[in-house]
Amino acid sequence: MCGIFGCISKDSPVAPIIIQGLKRLEYRGYDSVGVATLYNERIEVRKDAGKIDEVNNRLRFSEMKGSIGIGHTRWATHGAPTMVNAHPHSDCNGEITLIHNGVIENFLEIKEELLNKGHNFVSRTDTEVVAHLIEEEFKNSSTLEEAFLKALRRIRGSYAIALISSKEPERIFCARNESPLVLGVSEKGVFCASDVPAMLPYTNKIAWVKNGEAAVLDSEGFTIVRIEDNSKIERGLTEITWTLEMAEKQGYPHFMVKEIFEQPQSLRNALRIQKQYMDLLTTFLDRGREIFLVAAGTSYHACLAASYLFSKFARLVTYPVVSSEFIENYGSSIGIDSVVLAVSQSGETFDTLKAVDYARMRAATILAVTNTVGSTLTRVSRAYIVQQSGPEIGVAATKTFTSQLIILAQLGVRLARMRGKISQDDLDEIEGVFKIMPDYVEKALENNSSKVEVLSKKYSGERVFLFLGRGVSSATALEGRLKLLELGYVPALAYPAGESKHGPISVIEEGTPCIFLCPKGETRKEIIGSIMEMKARGARIISICEEGDAEIIGLSEDYLEMPKGIPEPLSPIVYVAPLQLFAYHFACNRGADPDKPRNLAKSVTVP
Ligand code: G6P
Repeated sequence: MCGIFGCISKDSPVAPIIIQGLKRLEYRGYDSVGVATLYNERIEVRKDAGKIDEVNNRLRFSEMKGSIGIGHTRWATHGAPTMVNAHPHSDCNGEITLIHNGVIENFLEIKEELLNKGHNFVSRTDTEVVAHLIEEEFKNSSTLEEAFLKALRRIRGSYAIALISSKEPERIFCARNESPLVLGVSEKGVFCASDVPAMLPYTNKIAWVKNGEAAVLDSEGFTIVRIEDNSKIERGLTEITWTLEMAEKQGYPHFMVKEIFEQPQSLRNALRIQKQYMDLLTTFLDRGREIFLVAAGTSYHACLAASYLFSKFARLVTYPVVSSEFIENYGSSIGIDSVVLAVSQSGETFDTLKAVDYARMRAATILAVTNTVGSTLTRVSRAYIVQQSGPEIGVAATKTFTSQLIILAQLGVRLARMRGKISQDDLDEIEGVFKIMPDYVEKALENNSSKVEVLSKKYSGERVFLFLGRGVSSATALEGRLKLLELGYVPALAYPAGESKHGPISVIEEGTPCIFLCPKGETRKEIIGSIMEMKARGARIISICEEGDAEIIGLSEDYLEMPKGIPEPLSPIVYVAPLQLFAYHFACNRGADPDKPRNLAKSVTVP
C-alpha cells in the first residue's frame, strides 16, 4: 500500500526529514518513490521507480530546498510502476501538487470531463485527476481550502491525500476516506503520514484523522474539518507508547492478524475495481469454449470456490486446476478457444506462470486476477484485474484470498447478466449483498475473535483435525485446513462432507475435533446428516453456522456464529475468517511464528 508523508519543518530543511519518514514506511511495500518541496513559492518534484536509497542516490532528494514538503512511496494500482506514474502528481501549471493512498472510483468520468475542459494529463493514475479537479474548482473558489473541499465532495473511493500549493505556500492540506491518515506535532515540526512509524522519531503525540475529514497543517499545528459541511472538529493529541515494531503492525502482534482484520477494508477496495476491466474479463470468459481456473495454494481454493459461483450464478462449467497439474491434465486439449483465468496474489508463482506460458503457446486467451501490478502475470495476460489488497506480508494468504473471491464472484454475476441467466430482481439483490459483504466480515471478526482465541487454547493439544463442508463450503474447508497445517504444523484433513464416509471417517476416534462449515442454504440438510455420522463415532463437533441456528448449535460442542443473511455461494468470504483466526492463535499457542511458517515462502518462484 502506498505510504504518504508530509512535513512543515520548523528549523531545518524538510527533504531529509521526508526521506527518513518514507524509509519508515518501507515495510508497507512499494515500487516507486517521490518527493515535492516548496521553496520561494515554487514547487519542485523529483520522483522515479525504484527503492528509496537508490532513487535518492540518483535524484538527490536530500538536496531539495524548502521547509515544507510531501513524500510518497507508491504501490502501483492504476498504471505501471514508472517514473511518470510515481507520485507526487500536479495540476496543469505545477501549482497544486499532491500524493495519495487509495483508489479513486470515479476517476475516469472526472478525467473525461476535465479533458473536455482542456486539462493536460501526463500519467495513467487515478491520483492525477484529483490535482486537476482542485485546479478546476479553484476557478470558482475564494480559497484553496474551499476548492480542496469541493473537489473532495466530488470524488468517490478511498483516499488519504496530502497536498502542497504555491497558492498557499505555508500549509499542507490533507484529507481521509478509508485510507489511514495520522497527524503529529512536535518541537521539530508538524507532520501528516499514512502511519505512525513515519513520525515516531519526531513525536509520539498524534491525532487520527477520521473518514470524511480534512485537515489543514501550518507551522503551529492543525485544524480538522468535516468535508461534507466544513464544520470544525476539535481533536486533541493522543500520546502513544508503541515501539517502532509495534507501530508497523499497527499495534497487532503479527502482520497476519493485522491482515486478517484488514479484510473489511481490502474487500471494500476490491469492490471498487473499475467496471471496464471487469467487463473486459467477462467478455473474454463468455467467448471461451472451456474455461480453466488455474492457481496454486490459497489462490487455488479461491478458484475452487469460484467454480461453484460460476456454475450457480452463470450456469457456466469451469475447471479449477492446481497449476502444477495443468499441463499434464489438460495440456493436450488446450487451443485457441480455451480461456485460462490465472489467479495469483504475487503474479510470480512459477507453476502458474508455466501453465500460462504453455496455454499461450497454444493460442489460448490468458486472463488474470492478481495483487501485483507489473508482475510477470500481468505482462503475459490479455486482460487482468488487480485486486487492490495492498501488500500481504504474512506468508499465509488471508486478505488476498477473500478479495480474490469477491472479484471472482462479481465476474460470475456479470457473466450471468451477459448470458441472460439472472433476472433483474436477483441481480439487484446480489449486487446489494456484495456491498455489505465487508460489513459481514467485520461483524464476524468482531463477534468471534475472543471466542476463537479461547477455542484455539482448548484444542491446542490436538494432533489431527477434520474440516468438512459441502458445495462451495468444501473450498472453505480446504482453506481452513491449509491455514491450520501451514501455521500450526498439524496434518489436518479437509473433505467435501459427502466424501467423509469414503475414508476420512475411519480416523475418527472419541474426541477427534471435526470442524463443520454450515451456512444456511441448499447443502444444509446433508451437512446435518454428516454431523450426525461423525458425532455418532465420538467426534467433537465445532461448527461455523449462522447466528441462532439452533439445530446446528444443538449438535455442536462448540460453535461460532456468523451474521445472518449471507447467500450460501458467497459464504466462504465470511466463514473463512474464524478459520484464519483459529490457525493464527493455534500457531501462537504453540510458539510458532505465524508470519513466517517454517519451510514456506510467500512467493514460490522456483519449479
Ligand atoms: C505460496 C504461499 C501461499 C500462496 C501460494 C500461491 O505457497 O505461501 O500463501 O497462496 O504460494 O501464491 P500466489 O502468489 O500465486 O497466489
